[in-house]
Amino acid sequence: MAYTVHKLTDYSAAALERASDELTSALERETNAVTDESGLKQFRDRWMARKNGVLTQINDLWLKAAPKDARPAVGQKANWLKKHVEGMVEVAKNRLALQRAPLHEYGGFIDLDLRVDRVDISLPGMHRPIGAEHPVIKTTNEMVRVFQKLGYSVADGPVVETDYYNFEALNFPPNHPARDTQDTLFIAGQQSKTQRERLLLRTHTSPVQIRTMEKMRPPIRIVIPGTVHRNDPPDASHTPMFHQIEGLAVDTNITFGDLKGTLDHAMKEFFGSSVKTSFRPSFFPFTEPSAEMYVSCFICGGSGRRGADPCRPCKQTGWIEILGCGMVDPNVFEFVKDNGYDPKKVSGFAFGMGADRIALLKYGVDDIQLFFQGDVRFLEQWA
Ligand code: PHE
Repeated sequence: MAYTVHKLTDYSAAALERASDELTSALERETNAVTDESGLKQFRDRWMARKNGVLTQINDLWLKAAPKDARPAVGQKANWLKKHVEGMVEVAKNRLALQRAPLHEYGGFIDLDLRVDRVDISLPGMHRPIGAEHPVIKTTNEMVRVFQKLGYSVADGPVVETDYYNFEALNFPPNHPARDTQDTLFIAGQQSKTQRERLLLRTHTSPVQIRTMEKMRPPIRIVIPGTVHRNDPPDASHTPMFHQIEGLAVDTNITFGDLKGTLDHAMKEFFGSSVKTSFRPSFFPFTEPSAEMYVSCFICGGSGRRGADPCRPCKQTGWIEILGCGMVDPNVFEFVKDNGYDPKKVSGFAFGMGADRIALLKYGVDDIQLFFQGDVRFLEQWA
């Protein structure tokens, strides 16, 4: 029996839904029943004619008759139904056109079924929102860019690394206590291998220094962004997986002055020209001498206070530790000597920083876990 619009006696959401379902199934049935031009015209008139078309009746019998408090809901429904009806009239129209058109107009490769009712290729595509750059990736890219402008190229290497590259060739002798500072996650079941072949999750991006020097002869200038792992329990400032940005420059006559000048310039470029840098003695097995570099706190401007409050990010010291660095230890060059890295002829500097920590500071985020929980409400702030 043909569908007719009934008056609504009940304006509850459920009743409205029921009435609308009844209408849409009739609409679908009638759309499918259109087989020729005159059927199409009848179909369009029946649903869309100003005078007495189904949509007009909905306007009169549902919307105008609705009690005041039900109006907005009915209005919304009526609008939706109008769009739906218009859409289905288009569907019926396109189907007729498809049936008439010779197949070669579609390149000949569309399945005949398409011309009947499987897929309506005339409907608009699905909208997929474009994502945003993750704050850690954004920070990494910005930092990498600073070094690219200085002529550095980007290098990378594996996250699952051998003991040789992660430790031995970086001058961590077997059983040396400096290995303990790295909280290494080892791959299980490797007892049968020699120590240098055993696999682990790299604890820093420094192994890529060796891997690159094995492949490229000096001079080199590279930045190495990447993920690293350490066996740290997660808290507001630690995660077992995090990101580093490493740098290495090797040439004849590279001095500690080059290291300081390069890093000072990079920090001014990244954080703003008013930041100062400070280098304090430190230790890494693969650099000698080694240093930690601090930048003056870009949050409090180095004063250690924010108004009447203490500045928390710099713990009131006015300085923030940003990276570890130093002159490449000659013992490291010994491992790649055959590729042109004779420690008597070349020298170099290296540095490594935590991208996540820098992103935390830069964007004023107080919990590193937020970076890795994948909550879109947090991440879309960078959209
Ligand atoms: N690899 C060191 C770390 O993860 C950082 C570093 C890199 C220090 C390069 C000196 C030179 O702590």
